[in-house]
Amino acid sequence: MQENSCQVVRLEDYAPSEFLVEKVHLTFELAERDTVVKTLMSLRRNPRSTNREQTLFLDGIDLKLRSLHIDGTPVADRDYRLDESGLYLFGVPDVFELQTEVIIQPQDNTVLEGLYCSGGMFCTQCEAEGFRRITFFPDRPDVMATYTTSIVADKKRYPVLLSNGNLLSSEDLPDGLHRVTWHDPFPKPSYLFALVAGDIVFEEGAFVTASGRSVALRVYLQRHNLGRGTHALEALKKAMLWDEKVFGLEYDLDLYMIVAVDDFNMGAMENKGLNIFNSKYVLADRETATDLDFQAIEEVVAHEYFHNWTGNRVTCRDWFQLSLKEGLTVFRDQQFSADEVARSLKRIHDVRLLRTVQFAEDSGPLAHPVRPEAYQEINNFYTATVYEKGAEIVRMLHNLLGKEMFRRGLELYFSRFDGTAVTIEDFVKAMEDAAQVDLSQFRLWYSQAGTPNIRATGNYDESSKEFCLRLQQGCAPTPGQSDKQPLHIPVAIGLLNSTGTEMPVCEVGHSGTDCDTTAILPLKKTEQVFRFKVSERPVPSLLRGFSAPVRLTYNYSDAELMFLTVHDSDPFNRWDAAQQLVTQVIMRGVDRMADGQAFMVEPVLIDAFRQVLHSSSKDRGLAAQMLMLPSENYLVDQRLRIDIDGICTVRRKLREALSDALHDEWASVRQACIKDTSAGYGFSPEEVGCRSLKNVCLSYLAAQSKAGFWPQVRQWLDEADNMTDRLALLTLLAEVENAESQTAFAQFYQRAKDIPLVLDKWFAVQSGARHPLIVDKIRRLLAHEDFNLCNPNRVRAVLHTFARGNLGGFHAPSGAGYHLVGDYVMKLDRLNPQVSASLAGSFSAWRRFDNDRSALMKEQLNKMFSTEGISRDLREIVQRSLQ
Ligand code: PHE
Ligand code: ZN
Repeated sequence: MQENSCQVVRLEDYAPSEFLVEKVHLTFELAERDTVVKTLMSLRRNPRSTNREQTLFLDGIDLKLRSLHIDGTPVADRDYRLDESGLYLFGVPDVFELQTEVIIQPQDNTVLEGLYCSGGMFCTQCEAEGFRRITFFPDRPDVMATYTTSIVADKKRYPVLLSNGNLLSSEDLPDGLHRVTWHDPFPKPSYLFALVAGDIVFEEGAFVTASGRSVALRVYLQRHNLGRGTHALEALKKAMLWDEKVFGLEYDLDLYMIVAVDDFNMGAMENKGLNIFNSKYVLADRETATDLDFQAIEEVVAHEYFHNWTGNRVTCRDWFQLSLKEGLTVFRDQQFSADEVARSLKRIHDVRLLRTVQFAEDSGPLAHPVRPEAYQEINNFYTATVYEKGAEIVRMLHNLLGKEMFRRGLELYFSRFDGTAVTIEDFVKAMEDAAQVDLSQFRLWYSQAGTPNIRATGNYDESSKEFCLRLQQGCAPTPGQSDKQPLHIPVAIGLLNSTGTEMPVCEVGHSGTDCDTTAILPLKKTEQVFRFKVSERPVPSLLRGFSAPVRLTYNYSDAELMFLTVHDSDPFNRWDAAQQLVTQVIMRGVDRMADGQAFMVEPVLIDAFRQVLHSSSKDRGLAAQMLMLPSENYLVDQRLRIDIDGICTVRRKLREALSDALHDEWASVRQACIKDTSAGYGFSPEEVGCRSLKNVCLSYLAAQSKAGFWPQVRQWLDEADNMTDRLALLTLLAEVENAESQTAFAQFYQRAKDIPLVLDKWFAVQSGARHPLIVDKIRRLLAHEDFNLCNPNRVRAVLHTFARGNLGGFHAPSGAGYHLVGDYVMKLDRLNPQVSASLAGSFSAWRRFDNDRSALMKEQLNKMFSTEGISRDLREIVQRSLQ
């Protein structure tokens, strides 16, 4: 076992850095083999540090030290020491200049942190702790410095040399080299440093800020992708305008650059003035990207742009505060997208993600608070909890304070902290001070892990015409937190009368007459009762718009859920009622199956679906969402004990039954959609909604395919003029074994083979297919000449899609799926620990499965754990999973 394998970093141990860096000048002499990095930095003792030691420690990993000077004098051997985590300098003065020269090897860098090569270019990734792979440095976010960066490289091969900030100079040098120098005037932490070099081209746009600054916008791409950056560029302009309008926040440099790279561990990175993106979130055109891809690009571009204020201008004091920038920025990008597209669809999309991914995380061994208290490897904490639950907390604040107060709170936050590195507490305090509210109980959302459960019960008293709503909250223990306090939970509710009209929500004792039709109930205690004056027995619409990240249960009858599906004025809750109804029906089916009874469809569901289909032309996008069955991932999370066979079987049979019972409706609604989009291909919410409903109908038609269906599908595939439709058709073909499917995949491959992002889809569609021989299929895909373990997108397309999205396959009773994924976790770990650790997370729920599966999953975890030399990333995930 590695010596440092169990090193835990704790929030309570935070201490300010002993030294601060004011200015850095970096000079890169780029070469695939042996890049030289020369660093000149001015250091001074931090007046706020209480530690008076004369030793300075600088982080550094895989750096070959070539020279070391303090104030121009070489440092003697006895005055420094190196180990695998960095450099110790003994007896340093209080103020001095440090000059270092190191050699790094970007071509061998497969972890994709620090400086690495991708598609013939150089690029960097420094969050969270990648800068220490570039040079010796106090690599922590509370050390903020101004950076000047010179890059020297071969001019032919690397004509474009980029770094943060503004271009200072560029000149030709002997031997075909050139040098370019950049300067970023804004002090920043090292994790926001970036460099790019390559033979790349750009698409350009311009933006003039509210105060008149003209900003050049550039999206850099590989030459063959020219033209595919336009959507990202347009998204950037929209985001810039939106942030000015909604929060009064303007961009602060003259240049904003986005660079697309093919090898990237995450989605994108907000480096100051020089965002580096996974090409998946930049490149798009109708031929290569689906409607969802277009939307995701808009979200990610906006997200990284919004970081310029929430993350860069005000950054995190330490990595426990990660949600300070991520939760807040996700909230901002969600609000932006909601303004751009259909608001309720955006909310449905976000809540789906939260419920499937974050709720699962929060109820398993990897559960952690939005502000974690300890970590071994920070890369393991870029989680749905920090991001998505973090965003939900900010959303609750926004609702509690109201739009105006929230904006004022943010203004106060920026006026207090611009240019500094702060904590989540600083953020909450600014909100509290601006709005003059008491958020002491609300703060628990940041420190307490686990998804709260709310049990709601309703009671109507005919004689007093009072509706009494009892809300009880609780939260199951999570690792390290057995006692849970009650949280402050805003529960938005409406009350519908028997005709489906909303009644004013008036609490008993409320004096005014100005009651709204939606009220936000402040649930603060373990149990609270709210009483309302109503004219008749209401059907309550609860947790409207998903006003808090909780699981709420209410004893709805099927009829009440049907009623809400049709009448609720909150579209989100209409969708949610439909989901609850289907989930209820499926779980009853699972129970019956466990009892040895045969499958049957409950007529109520067919009625509900028929109604949605009949009125679908009113809002096709929403109808499509209502008609999609809840994912297997969502269903397995409904019970503590997971009956995987029951869930997969019942869900499949239900799909077939709905297909059969409503065959004509699926066909005619599909036709109606086609008719209304025949004018061409566009991106309006209506057109996008049409495509999604059309393809949902198609998926039901495929579930009970009639004779001649597959040749038809083949023909549609030939006629399809966009990736959304093509991919929907291909997804259906992936689940069958016939001549049409074979030729379709062969043809798709021919079109895709030179376009990595499209080829990823070709892989992913097959990996996600419900198919009896799926494990063999996955093996073949892994052996395919285009499979590449070094490219995270490709790995995710096959392995993550399978392990996280194809539950029937991954959990095959033989354990073959576990075996395969377990082996690949180990293979990947030697190349890229971030990717292997995230894949290993698919075993974390092992305790909730039946005994056989549970043992097989645990066996894989044990195998990983007992392997020598596994990464710190993987070790932490495995250890916490087994605990
Ligand atoms: N900070 C990035 C974002 O959310 C995510 C990221 C983290 C990218 C770590 C790379 C490495 O916008
Ligand atoms: Zn982010």
